[in-house]
Amino acid sequence: MIKELNNRFRNKPVNEVLSFFLKEYKGKIAFASSLGAEDQVLTHLIAAIDPEIRIFTLDTGRLFQETYDLIERTNSRYKIRMEIYFPEAHRVEKMVHEKGINLFYESVENRKLCCHIRKVEPLRRALNGMDIWITGLRREQSFNRNNMELVEADESHKGLLKLNPLIDWTHEMVWDFIKERNIPYNTLHDKGFPSIGCLPCTRAVEPGEDIRAGRWWWEMEGKKECGLHE
Ligand code: ADX
Ligand code: SF4
Repeated sequence: MIKELNNRFRNKPVNEVLSFFLKEYKGKIAFASSLGAEDQVLTHLIAAIDPEIRIFTLDTGRLFQETYDLIERTNSRYKIRMEIYFPEAHRVEKMVHEKGINLFYESVENRKLCCHIRKVEPLRRALNGMDIWITGLRREQSFNRNNMELVEADESHKGLLKLNPLIDWTHEMVWDFIKERNIPYNTLHDKGFPSIGCLPCTRAVEPGEDIRAGRWWWEMEGKKECGLHE
């Protein structure tokens, strides 16, 4: 089925892809938005097709104020209410008690634990009861994402599909789309932050640096993922 869907929708306009999946999986489909540039493109498109579709964000508790502001601006522009998922308070308390408030700088193991408690576990709850979820992943973003497909089986959530409608889009396509339609975006993008996650784990990049160089920048190059897409 996955192969057929990919063959059928390969190189089709994003609107056509979204319209099909949002209708076909109505009530069983949700969009995970980090409020990144790609996600803003998708919110714009999804809200126009069906404003009832679930759009959720994982609030780790460590996001930038600019990201919180963008949640409000997006809600009011599209007359939607994004769902906000928080980590389990007792798990965060235990982790911080045992390992410290800024544990992520100490080791990759600590960093992955923090991402697990603050993102991966809440994602599991957000996806409960769904058949398919939408992401803003693009192949161009990293080596790791190079061989991703439009439709994929989600290895981390057995039985679930993942739809990546912008998988083939370039950075330029995303930004042309945003500018042409005056789509709200994170003001940090104009200050050298191409990829935005949590505040303590994201820095601005220099011109010419990789777009993900500012994520977990103190870690060695390689598989810098938080566990949402492994
Ligand atoms: S990450 O794994 O490095 O954090 P990235 O920021 O590139 O991921 O985002 C890729 C996609 O993962 C986003 O388009 C979105 O679908 C999903 N995603 C990442 N972070 C979040 C979040 N905090 N809340 C909801 N979805 C998220
Ligand atoms: Fe924790 Fe940093 Fe991961 Fe955010 S990105 S969940 S602060 S380790």
